[in-house]
Amino acid sequence: METLLVVGGSGLVGAKVAGLASKAFHVVATYRETKPKVAGVDFVPLHKERVEDAMALVRKTKPASVVDTAAMHNVDRCEDERELAWQVNAGSTGAIARAATDIGARYLFVSTDFVFDGQRGQYREEDVARPVNYYGETKLAGEHAALAASANNLVVRPSVIYGWDDTRLNFATWVLTNAREGKSINVVTDWIGSPTLADGLAASILRLLELPDGGVYHLAGAEAMSRHEFAVRLLKAFGLDPSLAKPVRSADLNMKAARPPNSSLTSAKAKRHRIAVVSADEGVAAMKGQRSLDSFVPPARFKS
Ligand SMILES: NC(=O)c1ccc[n+]([C@@H]2O[C@H](COP(=O)([O-])OP(=O)(O)OC[C@H]3O[C@@H](n4cnc5c(N)ncnc54)[C@H](OP(=O)(O)O)[C@@H]3O)[C@@H](O)[C@H]2O)c1
Repeated sequence: METLLVVGGSGLVGAKVAGLASKAFHVVATYRETKPKVAGVDFVPLHKERVEDAMALVRKTKPASVVDTAAMHNVDRCEDERELAWQVNAGSTGAIARAATDIGARYLFVSTDFVFDGQRGQYREEDVARPVNYYGETKLAGEHAALAASANNLVVRPSVIYGWDDTRLNFATWVLTNAREGKSINVVTDWIGSPTLADGLAASILRLLELPDGGVYHLAGAEAMSRHEFAVRLLKAFGLDPSLAKPVRSADLNMKAARPPNSSLTSAKAKRHRIAVVSADEGVAAMKGQRSLDSFVPPARFKS
């Protein structure tokens, strides 16, 4: 059985990739502090900024492929801790990609819609990337490093990832758990993305690894919408009061880093490769079908 190495296997996307892949691969997945439990997955500790450790792990596990979802993706924190953000998102990304290429393994880097400036929206893979914040700059540098190591490597760009995760809150679980307690939340109307269900993204990532061509692929939800509109869709689908999502403008939130106003993506290229691209309503319905909101105990941790 071939080995798949999932860097960031304790995260929302990484854990779903690791769990799904365990049916077909021997899966080795990384975490930082708290060792997760996913059936059929061997977890090992790794701090991605420790470049030598990351390269040694690739050489030791000898994977057929590496899926790298680990990132410092708190956009405001990346502005303050630039050296660490660069090392995690770009420097170590290149090192892992080169170590993988050296042993004949394929490397897949999970990037972001935040590589675009957001002036237009509905971006295609070939559109010019022009980040407006340091997080986006580091991820774009990570993309370049991944593809410089081998043209057969893959770069995947999702947008606003959501799904059940018992370890930290994401946008969807934050909206739902607050509303469940009757608490109203401020949600911006002027940031537009393409909400992407983590489970579908994980399946699409594994499908991409089966395709012969390397390069950049957008793997995002089929619809562009504001965070506020997405919150309203979630609340309606789960039978909660949509008026609990209070519309606000991003300028009122006084965020440190700039955000791309409309970084929505088109995933037409993925569709041409018969990779499913689902609407927000389909994604939310799938999430609702997986478990009841009542059974969800909100973790204290938010995205870091
Ligand atoms: N979340 C979004 O809306 C979104 C949108 C577009 C693109 N993306 C990209 O999608 C990818 C996956 O996101 P996600 O939602 O799955 O994130 P997540 O749930 O926050 O998981 C992040 C993962 O990265 C690991 N990690 C963070 N810093 C690390 C470091 N210094 N060394 C080693 N591991 C580290 C975490 O490990 P621990 O949990 O063990 O600390 C965790 O496994 C990221 O690359 C992100 O840039 C995310």
